[in-house]
Amino acid sequence: MLATWHFHIEISSKCTLACPRCARQEVPDTLVNTELDLAFFQRNFAPEFVRSHVEKITFCGDDGDPIYAHDLIPVIRYIKDIKPAVEIVIVTNGSYKKDQWWQELGDVLTGIDSVHFSIDGYDHDSNQLYRVNSDWASSIEGIHTLRAFSNVQIVWAAIAFQFNEHAIERMKVYAKQLGVDRFQLTRSTKFAKVYPVYGPVDQLQPSNNFISNTERFERELTDFTFRSNPVPDINYTLYNTVKDNKLIVPLCSIGNKGLYISAQGLLYPCCWVANRYSHNNEWQDITKKFDLAERTLEECLADQFWKSDFQSYKWRECQTKCAAAVVDENYATEW
Ligand SMILES: C[S@@+](CC[C@H](N)C(=O)[O-])C[C@H]1O[C@@H](n2cnc3c(N)ncnc32)[C@H](O)[C@@H]1O
Ligand code: SF4
Ligand code: SF4
Repeated sequence: MLATWHFHIEISSKCTLACPRCARQEVPDTLVNTELDLAFFQRNFAPEFVRSHVEKITFCGDDGDPIYAHDLIPVIRYIKDIKPAVEIVIVTNGSYKKDQWWQELGDVLTGIDSVHFSIDGYDHDSNQLYRVNSDWASSIEGIHTLRAFSNVQIVWAAIAFQFNEHAIERMKVYAKQLGVDRFQLTRSTKFAKVYPVYGPVDQLQPSNNFISNTERFERELTDFTFRSNPVPDINYTLYNTVKDNKLIVPLCSIGNKGLYISAQGLLYPCCWVANRYSHNNEWQDITKKFDLAERTLEECLADQFWKSDFQSYKWRECQTKCAAAVVDENYATEW
């Protein structure tokens, strides 16, 4: 059974940045720049479905940035009008939006929601070393404005690289000064040590202790205000129902990662299988059946496929990211 309390939605596959290890840069041939509009949400997230299923929506994505979707704010307002308790998480590079826009965003978000600013540098130039084309001033102004006008939780989310590993403490101090609630450090896998394709000399690769030791990106939190939301009961309940599975403990049955909807309106069980790298090619075919322009979300979720062929979990992402050997309670409750 797929967990339907959390959706990870790529409301926009558009982005003004060109981070070199983002799928939009690494797999440009199949990239489609598009976005989901309010009508899409009104059709697929009807009030009754939201009330009885949805507890959390994460606006992030594999290829794009949510703040470049024209309807992001109206969509959040639509969901909150139906059910104010739905937790909204936005993951963004934060560049190029004006104060007025951040104020409007802050108005529709509350203290249960959070905005993650993906900023890897300690000033404009260092941030450009991975966040190519980013605009430091507008990202920092976005944090200032949100902090001044909203009670929303703000997270500074940095990835460790060679160019910033010695400046992590400096970034944390600055984040705290800005009134950010948490600093999140990601240990990525996208380095030559894990994927030799980035070699032989990987200029972005940090020291070994800043590289993930597992198949998945690892996160480390420094909390300044201790306002993080508790893990929802439903997350624990679903984990307890599948945790003793012998081979695969599917996070898509637990919900911490969220069922994934791409900016093309295609439903996937998670963002990992949706990623447009060649090892996921089979999923680009499977999802043709789950096109939300042709069938409703409820019809797609009720499809027999999820109870039959899907249960093989034969795909590389399932065999690595959700192997029983790697999934423990912490893994099954974090983003
Ligand atoms: C494709 S981005 C979409 C959201 C938004 N555009 C952003 O960058 O925050 C999804 C996530 O991938 C992360 N990401 C980008 N490059 C990465 C890398 N090389 N290693 C690990 N995570 C990465 C981003 O920081 C973000 O958390
Ligand atoms: S900001 Fe996000 S979506 Fe845009 S290129 Fe960078 S990682 Fe990709
Ligand atoms: S990798 Fe496979 S088992 Fe894990 S969440 Fe994704 S679809 Fe489900």
